[in-house]
Amino acid sequence: MIGKTKITVIGGGHVGESTTFILAVKELANEVVMIDIIENMPQGKALDMMQAGPILGFDTKIIGSNDFKDMQGSDLVIMTAGFPRKPGMSREDLIGQNAPIMKDVAAKIKEYAPNSIVIVVSNPLDAMTYMCKKITGFPDNRIIGQAGVLDSTRFMAFLGMETGISIKTIQGMTLGSHGDDMVPLPRFSLIGGRPTPGVVENEKLDAIIARTKKGGGEIVKLLGTSAYWAPAAGTVMMAESILKDKKMILPCHAILHGEYGIEGLFVGVPVKLGNNGIEEIVEFDLTDDEKAALKKSADHVKEVCEIVDNMGI
Ligand code: LAC
Repeated sequence: MIGKTKITVIGGGHVGESTTFILAVKELANEVVMIDIIENMPQGKALDMMQAGPILGFDTKIIGSNDFKDMQGSDLVIMTAGFPRKPGMSREDLIGQNAPIMKDVAAKIKEYAPNSIVIVVSNPLDAMTYMCKKITGFPDNRIIGQAGVLDSTRFMAFLGMETGISIKTIQGMTLGSHGDDMVPLPRFSLIGGRPTPGVVENEKLDAIIARTKKGGGEIVKLLGTSAYWAPAAGTVMMAESILKDKKMILPCHAILHGEYGIEGLFVGVPVKLGNNGIEEIVEFDLTDDEKAALKKSADHVKEVCEIVDNMGI
């Protein structure tokens, strides 16, 4: 984007602060505002991050705030606020706690940053993206859910760990919901240009896929809370493609109107991201099995959206 760019990150928890920091280090905006309701916390974290600037060499101004008005003028708003998972919880178990937060925040985004592009990161992602669209009423191209990039980077990381091949020559693609029935696509995931099924033996590949699907839960079990570095890195990659108009094709949650046979739901699919947000939904030629897996995943997304609808939000 030409001129000064401003990003607001809502939520100063682990995901919010790591996202803010990477955005600043990469100088993706002139200003990054991190907003949280906890008094003094975002201000303290912002000041600490600013003091890393002279060493790491970034000029991005980082502002911590408790006032949602400070998102005014943002080109991009990244929603990370909400409770993280605790061991034993599924992402859907967070609906009761996080839906009221999304309800409030989405209304504030609509009020203070009506022209922004929104990336939703909060969980359960499938439901939160749907709510954000419902409450803001923003056009389809300006509401994007972050999950496919995270699930795909996990797939790529595991492929790299298992094969010993550089992740720089690995590409991964994971579609569908951000839940255990996500759809890693081995045929569209390449190692040195070759589809993974021809490079990694079946049993190993099945184990990698199973681990990818539960990749978030594995970390929750170890940490006692949700992951944040990979979620932040994924979010920043999306922000970069949007703000620099890079037109990267990345798996993201986008609302579908018939693509992949899905109607009116936010599901992870490959999209082209540029200055206008989602500029194209890319349709892969899927096999019947892949289509069935995506349909099953979308059915699950539908169920969580119905839970939100039944909450009267
Ligand atoms: C994960 C959470 C953040 O997958 O959804 O790690």
